[in-house]
Amino acid sequence: MMKQVDVLIIGAGAAGMMCAVEAGKRGRSVLIVDHARAPGDKIRISGGGRCNFTNLHAAPQNYISRNPHFCISALRRYTQRNFIALVDRYGIAWHEKTLGQLFCDGSARQIIDLLVTEMKQAGAELRLQTVVESIEASTDGYVVSLSSERVRCTSLVVACGGKSIPKMGATGFGYDIAKQFGLALTETRPALVPLTFDDNTLAPLQPLSGISVDAVVSHGKTKFAEAMLFTHRGLSGPSILQISSYWREGDTISVAMLPGTKVFEALRAARARNGRQALQTALSELLPKRLAQLIAENSGIQNHLADVSDKQLLAVERAINEWQVKPAGSEGYRTAEVTLGGVDTDGLDQKTMEAKSVKGLYFIGEVVDVTGWLGGYNFQWAWSSGWVAGQAV
Ligand code: FDA
Repeated sequence: MMKQVDVLIIGAGAAGMMCAVEAGKRGRSVLIVDHARAPGDKIRISGGGRCNFTNLHAAPQNYISRNPHFCISALRRYTQRNFIALVDRYGIAWHEKTLGQLFCDGSARQIIDLLVTEMKQAGAELRLQTVVESIEASTDGYVVSLSSERVRCTSLVVACGGKSIPKMGATGFGYDIAKQFGLALTETRPALVPLTFDDNTLAPLQPLSGISVDAVVSHGKTKFAEAMLFTHRGLSGPSILQISSYWREGDTISVAMLPGTKVFEALRAARARNGRQALQTALSELLPKRLAQLIAENSGIQNHLADVSDKQLLAVERAINEWQVKPAGSEGYRTAEVTLGGVDTDGLDQKTMEAKSVKGLYFIGEVVDVTGWLGGYNFQWAWSSGWVAGQAV
């Protein structure tokens, strides 16, 4: 006899497990399958092993989507406060690191354990190392061929994430399912990803590898004020990961490496205090030494400060706070934290995540064209979209 469940969920990640818990609590019979050996692998490695599980300030404006209004309903119905209450119920200690980002004090595994325990209590069955071989629509739902058996379900939930970190089993399978059922996709690309330079740009910057500054990085009107790191390939750090979701090939980004400082005034003051010092010495008071050295070298100024004009100092200020640089590319899905784009939200019901044209088929989490900023926003989307689908399946 073919196994029959109310709800079959493909993907035991953040969104899939949340959906399983909620559907199970409503008395639905739930089977959740994953091809990985363990549930929630991305949760385990997230936030440097401490899982930045939500953000105190999560709101629709922190998400990128072709339809920026789509995420509003789910984020309102299951908020960061709801998830924090769940974490508190399990006695998991947490702290705010910066900018509303909440991390476990201990380990990301605590969040996985919480979800697995909740699933058990809700009666959801978790099956790992299980491959989905085919999906067919039937009169009253779907017949899914798994590597272990064939399963009939009324609701099928696609929660298999995006394409980032293929080494961890990311496949883009969710997009194939969307295509199979005629749903549109928006363009997908790596996001929250380090940016890389071509050889010409990179060569002079190589000595800076490992240096970090608190920067403001802009792309058009979009700006992020967070740390920026020079790497042996280009730029990384939170501000760069954030801007990578907006940057496109051929675009220039603008970087302020001393955003809170009036560099021109500071250099004039240094000149008035001690005109015999070199520009590099004055800059070393403001910036890491190797960076100060490179900026001084690039300025072409060899004189003592006393012989440097205001015009030259203004040019140095621009080099520091209006550095225009054109990345050549990104590190790609190999290191991207998320996939931008995905299942077009036009085809989904924002209240339930069900496909408008395909009854009983749901898409939740990263596979949907809703991508959060860095800082706990992506997990909040996984919890919120998983929760609303869990009420509907
Ligand atoms: P997720 O990817 O979590 O789960 C999908 C599941 O589907 C996986 O278990 C996978 O094995 C399974 N699957 C895929 N294909 C399948 C197939 N064909 N058959 C069966 N199963 C299949 N976000 C955040 O808010 N805070 C943070 O701290 C971090 N940190 C972070 C670090 C790193 C290194 C990465 C790569 C990502 C983050 N993120 C993050 C992003 C966050 O991990 C991501 O947005 C969520 O995990 C998305 O949840 P989903 O459940 O949608 O997909």
